[in-house]
Amino acid sequence: MTTPTVRQRRVLLVVGGGIAAYKTLEVVRRLRERDIAVRAILTRGGREFVTPLSLASLAGDKVYDELFSLTDEAEMGHIRLSREADLVVVAPATADLMAKMAHGHADDLATTALLATDKPVLIAPAMNPVMWEHAATRRNVAQLRADGIAVVGPEGGDMACGEVGTGRMAEPAAILAAVLARLDGGVGRLAGRRAVVTSGPTHEPLDPVRFLANRSSGRQGHAIAEALACAGAEVTLVTGPVALAPPAGVATVEVESAREMADAVDAALPADIAVCAAAVADWRPAEVRDAKLKKSDDGSALTVALTANPDILKTLAQAGPRRPRLVVGFAAETEDVERHARAKLAKKGCDWLLANDVSPATGTFGGARNRVVLFERDGGAERWPELAKTELAERLVARIADALEADTTAAVGAG
Ligand code: CTP
Repeated sequence: MTTPTVRQRRVLLVVGGGIAAYKTLEVVRRLRERDIAVRAILTRGGREFVTPLSLASLAGDKVYDELFSLTDEAEMGHIRLSREADLVVVAPATADLMAKMAHGHADDLATTALLATDKPVLIAPAMNPVMWEHAATRRNVAQLRADGIAVVGPEGGDMACGEVGTGRMAEPAAILAAVLARLDGGVGRLAGRRAVVTSGPTHEPLDPVRFLANRSSGRQGHAIAEALACAGAEVTLVTGPVALAPPAGVATVEVESAREMADAVDAALPADIAVCAAAVADWRPAEVRDAKLKKSDDGSALTVALTANPDILKTLAQAGPRRPRLVVGFAAETEDVERHARAKLAKKGCDWLLANDVSPATGTFGGARNRVVLFERDGGAERWPELAKTELAERLVARIADALEADTTAAVGAG
C-alpha cells in the first residue's frame, strides 16, 4: 500500500463540560486512527464528564487543564499550545463556552488558548434545546460564524436531559468529516467521486410473516460508506434490514430483498466506486404466498422451492459502459478461503476482492473486527492484520483513493 508521506496533522481539542463529552472520546480515537495528533485541553466542566486519564490515553498525549500550571507554562505556554495545531476543535461547545468565545473572555486555559490562536476553529455545540434556541445563544452563534468559526451540528432528537429538540452534539462521524475537510483544505481525497456501497443482509419473503435471511450485521458495509463520505465522496448506501443508524453524510436507501437491492444499486449509477459488502441471499423462495403458510395437520415436511437471485456484484462488474471504475467485492467463506476467493474474483469480474473467513469461530459476522486478504485482479494479494471494522474501512478507502489517484486517466480495472 502506498501512503503519501505528509507532515503529521495536529488538532488542538477543547473538551467542554457536557454529557456529549463521551462522544468526543470517540472523535479522538478516530483522529488517532488516521495518525492525526490530538492535544487536548479539558475544561473544569469537561472534567465532570470525562477523566483526564481517558482523554490522555486515547490521545496518546498529556491533557492540559490548568492555566497557571507553572510547569506547563514553562514547557508549553498557552500561546504555543494554540499555535502548534493546524486546527482547533471545541467539542462539546457548551452555551457558556460559546458565550465566552463570542465575547473574547480568557479566564481559563481553554478560553485563553481560543483567544490566542491564529488557526481555524471548528465548534460542535451541545446543549439543552431551549438553551440552543435562546436569543443569547443565537446571537453568540451568529457572532462566532461572523468571526469565521465553523460550526458542525447540533442535531435534533432525544436529549440526555429527556427533552426533544435541537441541541444534541453532532455524531463523531460528522465531526470527523468536518475536521478532515478542514485539515485537507476543504477537499477530501475522494471529493468529486461517486460511490455506491451495499451492506447488511437481504430478507427474502416466503409469506407475509416469514423470510429467509442471514446473520450479517451491516457493520462493515456501513463503516465503508461512512469512511468514503469522510474522504469527500458522494455516497449512496443501499442496505438490507440492519439495527444500525444510517451513517452521517451518506444517502441511505433501505431495501429488503436482493431484487430491491439490485434495483437501488442500478438507480445509484453512474458511480466511480462500487463496494459490495452486503451478504445478499443467493436464492429466494420461488413463490411468495399471499397468506401465511399453514402447517399441515399430519405434520408432514414442507418443501420450499428456491430460485436464484440477481448477482449484484457481478452485474456491476460486467456493466459495460456503466461499470464503476473500481468494483470491490467481499468473499465470505467458511473454509479454504483463499482458493475460493481467487475463483470468485475471476467469476465475478470485479477489481478487488476482500476475502474474509466468516466461520462461527472467527466472530466476523455481527462482530466488530475483521481480518481480510485483499486479492487484486492482476494476481496481487495483501494480507491485512486483524482490524476493527471501522479501521478496515478507513484502510480500504485510503487504498481506493491511492488507486484512483494513481490512475486518473485510464480505467483502474476496466474490462
Ligand atoms: N454478492 C452480490 N449479489 C449476490 C451474491 C453476492 O452482490 N446475489 C456479492 C457480495 O456482496 C460479495 C460477493 O458478491 O461482495 C461475494 O459474496 P459471497 O456470498 O461470498 O459469494 P457468492 O457469490 O454468494 O458465492 P457463494 O455463496 O457460492 O460462496
